[in-house]
Parts: sequence; C-alpha cells; structure tokens
Amino acid sequence: MWSQNASLSGGTLSLAGISAAQLAKEFGTPTFFLDEGAYRARALAWHNGLQSEFGPQAGTIYYAAKSFICTAVAQWISEIGIGIDVCTGGELAVALAGGINPAKIEVHGNNKSVAEIDRAVSIGVKTIVMDSLFEIERVAAAARKHGVRQGVMLRLTPGIEAHTHEKISTAHEDVKFGFSIASGAAWQAVQAVAEHPELELRGVHCHIGSQIFGVEAHEIATDRLLAFMGKYRDSYGAQLPELDLGGGFGIAYIDGEVTVEPSDVLPAIGAAVRAACAKYSLDIPVISLEPGRNIVGPTMFTLYEVGTVKDVELEGGTVRKYVSVDGGMSENARTALYDAEYTAVIAQRASAAPHVLSRLVGKHCETGDIIIANIQLPSDIAPGDLIATPATGAYGRSMASNYNHVPRPPVVAVKDGKARVIVRRENEADLLALDVKE
Ligand code: LLP
Repeated sequence: MWSQNASLSGGTLSLAGISAAQLAKEFGTPTFFLDEGAYRARALAWHNGLQSEFGPQAGTIYYAAKSFICTAVAQWISEIGIGIDVCTGGELAVALAGGINPAKIEVHGNNKSVAEIDRAVSIGVKTIVMDSLFEIERVAAAARKHGVRQGVMLRLTPGIEAHTHEKISTAHEDVKFGFSIASGAAWQAVQAVAEHPELELRGVHCHIGSQIFGVEAHEIATDRLLAFMGKYRDSYGAQLPELDLGGGFGIAYIDGEVTVEPSDVLPAIGAAVRAACAKYSLDIPVISLEPGRNIVGPTMFTLYEVGTVKDVELEGGTVRKYVSVDGGMSENARTALYDAEYTAVIAQRASAAPHVLSRLVGKHCETGDIIIANIQLPSDIAPGDLIATPATGAYGRSMASNYNHVPRPPVVAVKDGKARVIVRRENEADLLALDVKE
C-alpha cells in the first residue's frame, strides 16, 4: 500500500526522508505526495519486464494518462522512454507539454471530436484506436486532409466478465466501448478500415477492466484477439503487426491485498501469447500494454488534517467516531462512486489508545462524502492530527472536482529528501476565474 520510499516508524510517516509533519507544514493539507522514485521504478519495471518477456523491439508500455497526468509526469515518461495512452484532447495537450514524442502516443476515446482527431493526425500520433464506424470515416478524412497515412487499431470487446466493479469493467458485451467480436461488428470494422488506403491497420486492442487480480481474464482476451488476428491473416493474406492488451492490473488499497507486479503477470501473458500464436499459426506480434493505476496508484498518499471529531451513537448502542478531514469526495471520489476501500493512519504521532470504530469523512455538504466507511482508528484522534491515506495516486487527483467550491489539492513530488510542487494548489482566484460577471 505504501510506496517504496515511504516509511512508518514510531507513529511518524516519512516520504523519501521527509516527515509528514514537515510536509504538511511546508505544503499544507490536503495534499497528494508523490514518491517520484517509486513512480519511475514502477514505470521502468513494466518497460523492462515487457522487453525481457518479448524481446527488445517487441512492445510498448503506454502509460494510461487518465490515472494521473501532469506536465512533470509527462516529462518523466518521456525520459523513461515509455509511451502514453491519452483519451481526450486535454490529456494529449499535457502529454505534448511534457515533451512526449507523438510517435509514442496512442489516442483512445469512444467519442473523439473531429477537432481532437484533426490535432492527433496533424501532429503524427502513432496510433488512433478506433471505437466506431463513424470514427473510421472521420480519421480517414483527417488523414486525407493532412496527406498522411494514419496508423490505427481497432478496439475490440472480447466478451469477458472481468471480476471487478461493474462501473470499471469494460469488455463484456453490454458496454459503450469497442467493436464486439461475437456480434460481427469487429469484422465489419476491419472491412471499413480496409476501404481506406489512408489508414494503416496496425492491430487490435482490448481493455477488459480495471483493478483486476490474476491473469485469467487477460489470458482469455489474448486467445480471442489472436484468433481474430488469425481470421484477418486468412482473409487478407498478411498478419497484423500489433496486439494491445490494455491495462487493468490491480493494486493493494487495504491490508490483505497485494499489488500486482509486472513479474507476476508478464510470464503468463507471454505464455498465453505464444500458445495462441502456435494455435492460430501466427508470428508473435508486437505486444503493448496500458497500465495506469498499477504504475501511479501505489506511489501517492493523501495527507489531511483532522478538523473535527464526533461520536455518533448507532442503533443498538454502538458508537461510531466520525473523523472529519479538510478534503473529501472532491479529491477522492472513488469511495462514493465505486465503494472503494482505503486505509488510513495518524501520520505524525504514535498512539497507544484503543482502536475504535471510525468513519473518515470530508468537509462536503453531503452524507455520501465518505473517504473510508469503516476503519478502526485510535480513540484519542483529535483536531490537528494528520491523517494519511495510501495508494491514492490513481484516479484521485485525476478525478478531483471543485464540488462545493473546494480548491483542488496540489501534487508534491518527493525524491531524495527534496520536495517540490508539480501541480499547485487551486486558490480562490482559480475558483472565480471562469465566472463571467453581470
Ligand atoms: N486502457 C484503456 C483503454 C482504459 O480504458 C483504461 C482505463 C486503462 C488503459 C487503464 O486502466 P488501469 O491500468 O488504470 O486499470 N476511475 C476508475 C477506473 C476507470 C478506468 C478506465 N479505463 C477507478 O477509479 O477505479
């Protein structure tokens, strides 16, 4: 749950040698603290792991920007040499601001605007992943306009029920994403692309869901997509060069969960690819993956300050301690949206007090503003205590809102005893900046 350079001893949480109390004093709360060394190590582990499984030229890790992106992180990605998956024009703009080479950018999205497509084609992104027949026509039109041959992939739905929350499961049949293999829509898309010489079909893609443990779902997807590539080769006489298996690799949020490491899954994916290639008489294609959560999730914690504490008597006489912190559902929407689970510690002191049933809540005007529904916390927790929730790097700051006009927190990167702001805190001027006065 905690990142590799975080340590908890004697009740004091530190990151890369700086205590939580010092961090809070310098940067305020709530704040996302990002373990830069851990981020770089996790990104590199995926990159190296993929290369050692499939060979040096054999694939690309496209970091899923939606999990968290800012200009500094885009610069790190560029330095590390991996690619990026963006799913909107906004994410594309940040990737470019961070200096990522368009040849390492893959563009996703089920409803890319004509303007987004035009920009992506005009700057020469590596691939645009097709999600509808309309889009095939739109990308072809943009390629003709710019006089280029655009690399594209097809997002396929292989009909897999991944065991994860319904709202983050993406590859069963009844979803908005991709072309269904079973219904024939995928094959229709192949034929539609083939009618456009300005499109180069580079391969097929799937993303089966998020926060997935185990490799079974990826293994089944591998077999179904390679069967599809076999059918393509039989009809068109040439093999598609690339297979992109998406992201979705799970991380630990609470005790008892274990973060998936690249070395846990890549050998099994490698074996599944080799087996299916043998079965369908295919050469091993270039294999790409798009981990987001698994890279950034474990590398951040959110630091809050406790503002109020209230004992609330429940039916039957049980008491629940409501611990209110200075953030909430605006910077951690995941509990409200997905019943996500987190853990928390007091970050600046040890406590010998007994642990009691508690609920960590935010400052928003809403009952559902819950960060952790049920947690045992020391009974002496009090205003002024610092609370840290680990593993908030993915879909935390990236899904933050301004609900109740609460300014979104900053992101501070910490490395080798030095901390620096990479996304600054919003302020009152930011909150008013878009309002037009009568
Ligand atoms: N590739 C594609 C095409 C995706 O749609 C996604 C995530 C990813 C890669 C990265 O998935 P990851 O490796 O991060 O699991 N907001 C939700 C997660 C939504 C994921 C959407 N797509 C959450 O907070 O759990």
